[in-house]
Amino acid sequence: MKEKILEVKNLTISFKTPNGLVRAVRGVSFDLYKGETFAIVGESGSGKSVTNRAIMGILARNGIIDDGEINYRNQDLTKLSEANFHQIRGKKIGMIFQDPLSSLNPTMKIGKQITEAMLVNGNRMKNRLRDLYHVEYHDYLNKLQAIRLEKAAYQNKMMDIKLDESLSKKEKAEKIKEQKAVKKERIENFKKDLPALKEKYLEAKKRAVSQVKKEKVELTRENNAAINDLKNKLATKRTRLNKMDQNSEAYKNALEEIRQIRQEIKDAKEQLRRKFKVTKKEAYEKAIRIMREVNIPDPEKRFHQYPFQFSGGMRQRVVIAIALMADPEILICDEPTTALDVTIQGQILDLIKQIKKERDLSVIFITHDLGVVANMADRIAVMYAGKIVEYGTSEEIFYNSKHPYTWALLSSVPDLDTKVKLVSIPGTPPDMLFPPKGDAFAERNEYALKIDFEKHPPFFKVSDTHYAATWLLHENAPRVEMPKIISERIARFKARSVGEQFDKE
Ligand SMILES: Nc1ncnc2c1ncn2[C@@H]1O[C@H](COP(=O)(O)OP(=O)(O)OP(=O)(O)O)[C@@H](O)[C@H]1O
Ligand SMILES: [Mg+2]
Repeated sequence: MKEKILEVKNLTISFKTPNGLVRAVRGVSFDLYKGETFAIVGESGSGKSVTNRAIMGILARNGIIDDGEINYRNQDLTKLSEANFHQIRGKKIGMIFQDPLSSLNPTMKIGKQITEAMLVNGNRMKNRLRDLYHVEYHDYLNKLQAIRLEKAAYQNKMMDIKLDESLSKKEKAEKIKEQKAVKKERIENFKKDLPALKEKYLEAKKRAVSQVKKEKVELTRENNAAINDLKNKLATKRTRLNKMDQNSEAYKNALEEIRQIRQEIKDAKEQLRRKFKVTKKEAYEKAIRIMREVNIPDPEKRFHQYPFQFSGGMRQRVVIAIALMADPEILICDEPTTALDVTIQGQILDLIKQIKKERDLSVIFITHDLGVVANMADRIAVMYAGKIVEYGTSEEIFYNSKHPYTWALLSSVPDLDTKVKLVSIPGTPPDMLFPPKGDAFAERNEYALKIDFEKHPPFFKVSDTHYAATWLLHENAPRVEMPKIISERIARFKARSVGEQFDKE
């Protein structure tokens, strides 16, 4: 059984705007397994980025998580306090974006940008201290967060009531009163626990401080003892050296030994410093190692250059290096190649594939182009209007997809030979201020049934790994298969690139 590393459950996100609530993500669920590449594919505006920004904890300020869970390491990320989230964001979960320039600071040397986070968060004793009272501290912070979320949810409900045209003035007033009472009770309930939680965390902190103090003394004593031994050795050698003939072989050897001991003392001091904090040297060494890993040539020289001295592809490599510095478990790639030209695109995709394999990373790969993920995704989810409408293994999506929207996406992949798109999808996605009632794609779907306009389809099972939300899979629906013109095209697509497509080994 593969290890599940991230679980998104019924994630529902809206944005407050002057025109009302934009329902950007509407009940998205998926699992991410260790070491897999999971692609999320859909047209512009389908909610791909918003879903993943929620995982990263970087939603825009007007965004609200209305419902759902993001479970990672026994924690629900949607309910974490800001401070707690910091420990995960960029450390365990890294993200790279479409435009490498916007993620880089143009006025800062790239070496500094690569090492910055490591140095800023590099106070090891402070981190150790925090780890020691982490649980109690975050129990307290998460309770504060729960109160904040409760208030936001309340405001959200108020807005819903105010905007609901089916309610009379009186009904609205009643509902608002009702909500107010519920809110008051729930928040008072939360607040009751606060003082005890605070006291517990302050006690834990006090204990942690004295423990770390003890550890510091211990560490320094051990290291200083080792350094003193070396210094004594050095002194003895020096005394002997003074008595030697400067032209003798023995003198040369002794001199070499002294040099070595000096180096050992230097190393021991650096090791001691590293126990307390990340040193510049340590960060530099790691940066150079990772710049090599992402194939930036001449990293020692490049370390001291500015972003403008890099090509687009090289900049994206720098951005990937920054993400890798924290040794993340999950890497979210949001259209990382869209801004690059085709040959460079291929190189960056290969690089992502390679580091994924080497590091056993779990990758979420976002794109609007199914062609991009054909030879890199293990599984694919297709998103439309804030929902996943179909998901399955790469093979299932390419050869046996069931949702007409997936067919539409497949037919808009540019042809390998002619580079032209078969068809572009007619119509436009719905306005997410007013999401349609049934299958949101019905308006644009030539196979739409009457029920598609009335009721949202549930997921129908195609195989253990393959599900699609389309009424076409209902037993009473007319049998419709993937249009031949698309399946033929995919067959050609496959034949053209045998040994490359679907080659995930
Ligand atoms: N801060 C915001 N305020 C209001 N609406 C927003 C905000 N951010 C995103 N949206 C809306 O949420 C919906 C989903 O956007 P999202 O960025 O996730 O799309 P996407 O699938 O990533 O598209 P693209 O391929 O263009 O990147 C869109 O309708 C978008 O307009
Ligand atoms: Mg996006």
